[in-house]
Amino acid sequence: MSSLVVAIDGPSGSGKSSTSRGVAARLGLRYLDTGAMFRAVTRWMLSHGVDLTDPDAIAARSGEPVIVSGTDPPDPTIPVDGRDASFAIRSDEVNAAVSPVSAVPAVRARLLELQRDIIGKGGIVVEGRDIGSVVAPDAALKLYLSADPEARAVRRAAEAGGDVAATQESLRARDRIDSGRVTAPLTMADGAVHIDTTPYTPDEVISQVVALVEAVSGDGE
Ligand code: DC
Repeated sequence: MSSLVVAIDGPSGSGKSSTSRGVAARLGLRYLDTGAMFRAVTRWMLSHGVDLTDPDAIAARSGEPVIVSGTDPPDPTIPVDGRDASFAIRSDEVNAAVSPVSAVPAVRARLLELQRDIIGKGGIVVEGRDIGSVVAPDAALKLYLSADPEARAVRRAAEAGGDVAATQESLRARDRIDSGRVTAPLTMADGAVHIDTTPYTPDEVISQVVALVEAVSGDGE
């Protein structure tokens, strides 16, 4: 399993994070949350007064934030310019701005380089939107998680403490941008296994994925 790469893509609230962290923890693998990296860039742009309606302004400064992604499943830290940003990257302000920032090709190119460095020789579960299609197309196992829009909003609102209808609207707006952008849109990669997580608990999904990983790595036979 030491060289294994598991790519998990899907929209927000599909169960990606709980599944990715749980699978990595159970199998002793590292974990990379690429959404946190896009959030960290967005947070940095907001705190440096960059005009987020101007893709050229975002691109011009995309090389500046110093982002270090921790890969420990129970504690995936994300210092930005040396200061932990784990909480700041989950704010409403970042939720509202992260999709347009993520659509800027220079931002994606910068983070792609960092992501591939971290993936290195493998032994990692990586979650995002374009992992199976762009970041790690040779991953041993690619998954695409989805869930009914209402289930996704209920899960996200429970995590973040918000109103379900407002959360559903915010998810819908992000889905539209994440799926419609030109560079590396959210998509089900070729060869990906699709799991609709709506009827399952997080533990049930983790068990299904662990069984799939063991099947591809030969450990479950
Ligand atoms: O998974 P998340 O909700 O934390 O991701 C936040 C945003 O980051 C998401 O709206 C789109 C962007 N993202 C991306 O464009 N590509 C990735 N691989 C991961 C996230």
